[in-house]
Amino acid sequence: MRFTSILAFAATAFAAEKGFNYGATFSDGTIKHQADFEAEFNSAKNLVGQSFTSARLYTMIQGDTNGVIEAIPAAISSGTTLLLGLWASAGSAQFNAEVQHLTDAINQYGTAFTNLVIGISVGSEDVYRTTDLGIASNAGPGATPDTLIGYVNQVKGAIAGTTLAGKPVGHVDTYNTWTNTTYTAGLASACDFLGVDAYPYYESTKANSIDNSMSIFWDDYNAVVAISQGKQVWVTETGWPHQGPTMNQAEANLDNAATYFKETGCSLINGNVNTWWFTLQDQQPVVPSSGVVFAVTGPGMPPPTTPLFDLSC
Ligand SMILES: *[C@@H]1O[C@H](CO)[C@@H](O)[C@H](O)[C@H]1NC(C)=O
Repeated sequence: MRFTSILAFAATAFAAEKGFNYGATFSDGTIKHQADFEAEFNSAKNLVGQSFTSARLYTMIQGDTNGVIEAIPAAISSGTTLLLGLWASAGSAQFNAEVQHLTDAINQYGTAFTNLVIGISVGSEDVYRTTDLGIASNAGPGATPDTLIGYVNQVKGAIAGTTLAGKPVGHVDTYNTWTNTTYTAGLASACDFLGVDAYPYYESTKANSIDNSMSIFWDDYNAVVAISQGKQVWVTETGWPHQGPTMNQAEANLDNAATYFKETGCSLINGNVNTWWFTLQDQQPVVPSSGVVFAVTGPGMPPPTTPLFDLSC
C-alpha cells in the first residue's frame, strides 16, 4: 500500500504542466509565425528561476495563411507540451474550420504533434460572455452551454480513431461562470476537464488586496472543484499585473506581481496542479490597449530570459 501511494504521488508530480498562455498575435495585432512561437517557447523554457514547458493556445488556425497555427511546429521543435484551444464564439462554420485544422494538424505532424497534447479546450470564456456580467463588460460574442456541449461531442468524434483519441476534451471559463451550475452543470458533465480562469485582481467586489489574493484564488479554485463532478480542474489563466488601474484594493505593481507568483503560483506548482500562467509577455511590442500588463518578462524578441521578478519556488 505504501509503495502504491508513493508511486501515485510521483506520477502526479511528474504529470503537472507548467506553462503560459500564447495568443496568435502580438499586442499590435501582428500575426506570430513559427520563429516567433519558437522564441517565446524557448525563452519560457529557459526563464531564470522556473522553467515553463507548456503552451495554452486559443485557436488552431494560422491567421495569414489559413493553415495549421505555426505554434504547432514550434512546440515540436522546442519540446513544448500543448493545451490546444479551438475558438468557439464565432459560430458553427468557424468552429467547423477549427476542427478541420485540428484534423489537418494530426495528418500533417503525426505523433510528433499528438504526443505533446495534454488536452483540447473547446472555447475560452464563451459562456461568461453570454452572462449578465460578460454583457455588462462588453466582452463580445459568446456561446451558450448547449452550443458548447455539441462542440465538445463534435471534437470527441473528430479525434476518435486518431492518435489524439482519449486525450481530455474540455472547456475553459471563469470560476464564477462554472459555479453558476443551473446554467453550466450540463457542460461540466460533457467535459473531461474544467479549465478555470481566476484573477483576484479583477474581483473588485471583494476585499482583494494582495494580502488576500492567495485565499481568494484558492476559494475560487475550490468552488470549481466542488461543482466539477469529479473531473480534473486545471488552472488555465491566473496572474497579477504590474501595470494597470487599481481595482478596488488590488494595486498593479511589481512587488504585488512578485508576491502573487511566490504565493499563489508556487502553491499551484508545489501542489502539482496543471497551470498555464498569464503570462510570459503581453506587451510585445507595445502595452496592450487595456493598459494592463501581466508579463513576467520585459518586451523584446526573443523574450528576455531574466524575469522581472523572482520566479523560483
Ligand atoms: C448565471 O446563468 C444565468 C443563465 O441561466 C445568467 O443569466 C446569469 O447572468 C449567470 N450569472 C453569472 C454570475 O454568471
